Amino acid sequence: HKLPGGVYKWKAPSNIALVKYWGKRPPQIPANPSISLTLDHCATRTELHYEPLESASEDCQFEIFLDGVANDSFRPKIATFLERIAPYLPFTRHYKYRIETSNSFPHSSGIASSASGMAALSLCFLSLERELFPEMDESYFLRKASFLSRLGSGSASRSTEGPLMQWGYHKEVAGSSDLYAIKYPFPIHEIFRNFHDTILLVDKGSKQVSSTVGHQLMHDHPFAENRFLQAERNLEKLQPVLADGDLERFIAIVESEALALHAMMMTSSPYFMLMKPNTLEILNKIWAYRQETRRPVCFTLDAGANVHLLYPDHIAGEVQQWIKSELADFCENGQYIHDRVGAGATSI
Ligand code: PMV
Repeated sequence: HKLPGGVYKWKAPSNIALVKYWGKRPPQIPANPSISLTLDHCATRTELHYEPLESASEDCQFEIFLDGVANDSFRPKIATFLERIAPYLPFTRHYKYRIETSNSFPHSSGIASSASGMAALSLCFLSLERELFPEMDESYFLRKASFLSRLGSGSASRSTEGPLMQWGYHKEVAGSSDLYAIKYPFPIHEIFRNFHDTILLVDKGSKQVSSTVGHQLMHDHPFAENRFLQAERNLEKLQPVLADGDLERFIAIVESEALALHAMMMTSSPYFMLMKPNTLEILNKIWAYRQETRRPVCFTLDAGANVHLLYPDHIAGEVQQWIKSELADFCENGQYIHDRVGAGATSI
């Protein structure tokens, strides 16, 4: 049957990887498994308005509005995404769509909206499928939402649920898959459920090298095989650390993962560097602060110059004071965003 038309609304968060995904093969299959903390504040809200067509269209028909204004800059990315998901959602060509989207974080803040954006859009499409097939159960719904999100952007597969997600097959993790992310299936200490992530906006400009190109450069990379093994091992090493709340070992693994990601960029052919002088200033400040105060703060990095500062809730007050007085100077226009671990996407 055909639905008369309507709207679905979802809010999906961004996420920050602890064990990084860098390297893939078609169709969006990761070279190694990754784990991320789901964020709370940094999120995309998306409305999918749909209307039935008289007859199925060749290409998916859609228009996009960002913050209420027609916006075609995402058009190619969304068109590719809709092509990719069509085999799994055959009804999509029988409707036309208006996609209205907005992000909680500032545009061109250097925070990628692809993870939260693709997850929010996938959840809207899946709600439409569930309306057509109401017998769909919740676990199928969430798994398929992550599966579709992955086809939009690999890391988006980890933005559907929280607090901790794993994407990618690992022999020691039952239920893990390259096709979708799962909720981290091992014990998680309370301390990580309340973790903070302050995103220090070092450089808000667009990256010189996209993550798509970066993933590709892992194909002929001299260190690729070892990097993939390292990620697998770090994922295993994190298991007791996440269960016990062992912050010292957590810090060693997480910072090493961030630097390994950037080391892959610096040693690919062609090589490139996404860190900026202020990124390094901040990393040195963090190391000095940790040494002086013994406070368990650490950093991680995405594919960009911004620094994610991770810390537990019981020291949030003093750390945020320190960010304001010491780290804000290294951020573009003094800007940073306080975020924390969240529970995943919600229907709105
Ligand atoms: O999802 P993509 O293709 O934008 O890749 C993102 C990769 C990193 O953010 C650098 C690491 C990760 O696991 O999120």
